[in-house]
Amino acid sequence: MAYLEFDSLSKSFPGVRALDDVSFGVGEGSVHAICGENGAGKSTLLKILSGVYRQDAGHVNLGGEPTIYKSPYGAINAGVAVIYQELHLVPEMSVAENIFLGHLPQRAGLVDKKRLAERARRQLGALGVNIDPWAKVGRLPIALRQIVEIAKALSHDAKVIAFDEPTSSLSAREVEHLFELIAGLKQQGRVILYVTHRMSEVFSVCDAVTILRDGKQVATFDTPENITENDLVSRMVGRSLNDIYGYRPRNYGNAALEVSALATQALAEQIDLQIREGEIVGLFGLAGAGRTELLRAIYGAAPRKGMVSVNGRSLNGSPSESINSGLMLCPEDRKSDGIFPLRSVSDNVNISCRRRLSKLGFWIDDKREKQNARTQVDRLSIRTPTLEQPIGLLSGGNQQKVILGRWLSENVRVLMLDEPTRGIDVGAKREIYDIIYGLAESGVAVLMASSELPEVLGVCDRILVMREGRLVGDVPRSEAEQDNIIRLALPPSTEADF
Ligand SMILES: Nc1ncnc2c1ncn2[C@@H]1O[C@H](COP(=O)(O)OP(=O)(O)OP(=O)(O)O)[C@@H](O)[C@H]1O
Ligand SMILES: [Mg+2]
Repeated sequence: MAYLEFDSLSKSFPGVRALDDVSFGVGEGSVHAICGENGAGKSTLLKILSGVYRQDAGHVNLGGEPTIYKSPYGAINAGVAVIYQELHLVPEMSVAENIFLGHLPQRAGLVDKKRLAERARRQLGALGVNIDPWAKVGRLPIALRQIVEIAKALSHDAKVIAFDEPTSSLSAREVEHLFELIAGLKQQGRVILYVTHRMSEVFSVCDAVTILRDGKQVATFDTPENITENDLVSRMVGRSLNDIYGYRPRNYGNAALEVSALATQALAEQIDLQIREGEIVGLFGLAGAGRTELLRAIYGAAPRKGMVSVNGRSLNGSPSESINSGLMLCPEDRKSDGIFPLRSVSDNVNISCRRRLSKLGFWIDDKREKQNARTQVDRLSIRTPTLEQPIGLLSGGNQQKVILGRWLSENVRVLMLDEPTRGIDVGAKREIYDIIYGLAESGVAVLMASSELPEVLGVCDRILVMREGRLVGDVPRSEAEQDNIIRLALPPSTEADF
């Protein structure tokens, strides 16, 4: 018998039917995956489970009883914890305070700091990380913030735990820890929901899967049964994607980006690199290897020494000069670095290229902006009811696509992408790869950082590997394989782990 049951659940937002008659159950000690394209309704389902939204019709039953939450803590009190896709931590507060927010251990009316730190260490230790409990969350890299978010949900000792794309920012090793932890939770008889865009995870951690498309339930089935990743993908996107990378070789032109003796505080060594017109170069490394720092330094978003030039013209190191020279960076943490949540999709697309589209440099040209927003929405298949929709109301993956569209609206010569397909569904990934190939064919040089090794191997002409703030490898596609790239990326002492 299922402990958690969704019974004919429906939910609409203006212009969108986010969930349409969805019913399935999850038993104790079972992990149930929820898959579907960006905007399919996955997060909405979890938000109804946790009481953030109220369904229009249907029920959520826990242990046979329909839930009715009267306050935001209703779900927590009912034993439900949700780890959201967009992290909800308080950046100014410490790691420990974030984890135990709402139930801080007290002594004589004051927060018991010693116990708080101890508990936080234990909770984080179970996730395989060693973070200072007093570190400010805002200072942590995104992967660690995601782990803090997970620790926070687990601190409630909930019966039902729902993960919304928990691995999107984690490195391979952290993912393994998370899977071990989930296996442990399963053994304790907890009920687990698991939203992911990574099909392989459905098979490695989940017992059953529900596929949503446009809010409708396409299928629910147990995972071991004669199902391949390809079947799963074709049921999800409605077509078969045999080779999701669809790599196409190209010719290269002159050097487009040249970096020499680049030094910043975050890098352990000076860095030299060169990317030619039409070349797609991957930047791979474990979490904390310095990829994001390197991209930010090249872009001029972090102070630097050394030389960066685009098409032979040297840049002095400010983002605005970079943009004017055609050097763009689409950041990893699009939520805090990129999105203006209350502004429209159209504004969020046009906010950077506006100066180029505007009349005489300062009157906003509404018509051209609309046209550009429409172009980007179509080419990236962004699901939004209108161009005027506030971007904050789009699904997570669609927000990511809007920010990508912002950089694709520029006259780009060198495009740097930090985790370009994070949170993006498999079908849309393929579309994004095609856009990247198209740009490269038109002479754009691409440097993309990704922690998904199959993606780097599948899409790039050449792979640069970083380890502990150094560039430790430069491997052409013909020689790049999973094993040699991982070996380069791992610190020498830990090689035995794998
Ligand atoms: N508060 C809201 N107001 C208006 N529309 C919303 C709101 N929340 C979600 N939606 C819409 O409901 C649909 C489902 O969104 P949801 O976030 O559930 O998708 P998802 O499956 O989680 O997608 P992703 O993989 O991109 O995270 C989308 O079209 C989204 O734009
Ligand atoms: Mg979502």
